[in-house]
Amino acid sequence: MRTRVIGTGRCLPETVVTNDDLSKIMDTSDEWISSRTGIKERRLVKTENTASMSVYAAQEAIKDAGIQPEDIDLIIVGTLTGDYVTPSTACEVQAAIGAVHAMAFDVNAACTGFIVALNTAHMYIQAGICRTALIIGAETLSKIMDWDDRGTCVLFGDGAGAAIVQSADTGILGLVQGADGTKGMSLACQDRDNHNPLVQSDRQLHYTSMNGQEVYKFAVTKVPECIHQVLDQANLTTEDVKYFILHQANIRIIQSVAKRLKVSEDKFPISLDHYGNISAASVPILLDEVNKKGLLQRGDKIVISGFGGGLTWGADVIEW
Ligand code: COA
Repeated sequence: MRTRVIGTGRCLPETVVTNDDLSKIMDTSDEWISSRTGIKERRLVKTENTASMSVYAAQEAIKDAGIQPEDIDLIIVGTLTGDYVTPSTACEVQAAIGAVHAMAFDVNAACTGFIVALNTAHMYIQAGICRTALIIGAETLSKIMDWDDRGTCVLFGDGAGAAIVQSADTGILGLVQGADGTKGMSLACQDRDNHNPLVQSDRQLHYTSMNGQEVYKFAVTKVPECIHQVLDQANLTTEDVKYFILHQANIRIIQSVAKRLKVSEDKFPISLDHYGNISAASVPILLDEVNKKGLLQRGDKIVISGFGGGLTWGADVIEW
């Protein structure tokens, strides 16, 4: 029993913020941002939030899959920026789309969130606990950025992507996932302070901090390694793969991964120029773009890979 992707969807906020827009409110430039990252613009929420974008992306994926919300047994949202601590974003989606038969919960594996959510659903499907799942990666990263820290806030954006997966005789052919908590503080965002009666502390808001060079080194070594591992598992080589759909953090990371794998950059679709880094949402948004452009045929093999906060990483090889 395997797990096949049968539909995809995405939602991006309406408001486009270009590098030039940012250079009007902070000491930065289009030249600095695009030459170091490949990012030219990103979408930021004004009226949207994590749940509303998730719901829209989910409805698109349901339409694409040709199923009904009642057919869904499981909803998993990969996110680190839900609108509430509880209910989970997945429960909000369940209510909004009327997936009355679905169990629903969120997972937090930062930029690996969609991969971990997909693999968790795959385990449920393999165990015979469910047949059809809705997997979402969704983030409102703009709310956890320090807009006075030009080293981080220019890199990230907001959005959501979704996929419907179902038990089938083909689909996920191999998966790898891992974590190294010892390096966790190189990309971190502390939660709210505790104000119970025993704790004296100032009320502070905490924002994302990053050691960019450490995260860069981690990504360019770990991602090719886990892609090789997952291809070995499936008895495939890089030549068998039509597209490598990577987390969209930085064009230099993607170019370095392509070089280390000895694969043409043409096999690495890109969306970070328009959207920046949207953590758990990057992979499903790009997957939907590739799918909706009609670039995938039944039988094509693709690799998806996420990496980032935790530090965490993961890759799947999927037969379409
Ligand atoms: N605009 C203009 N200048 C900026 C800037 C900005 N937005 N952000 C930082 N700078 C300045 C710094 O202040 C520093 O100036 P100084 O030399 O006078 O001190 C200079 O640019 C270099 O900063 P540094 O942080 O050393 O740059 P870098 O070459 O490491 O590039 C990243 C920074 C973030 C682009 C790079 O480290 C990177 O891509 N890392 C990976 C990050 C990532 O992808 N994270 C998410 C993974 S999920």
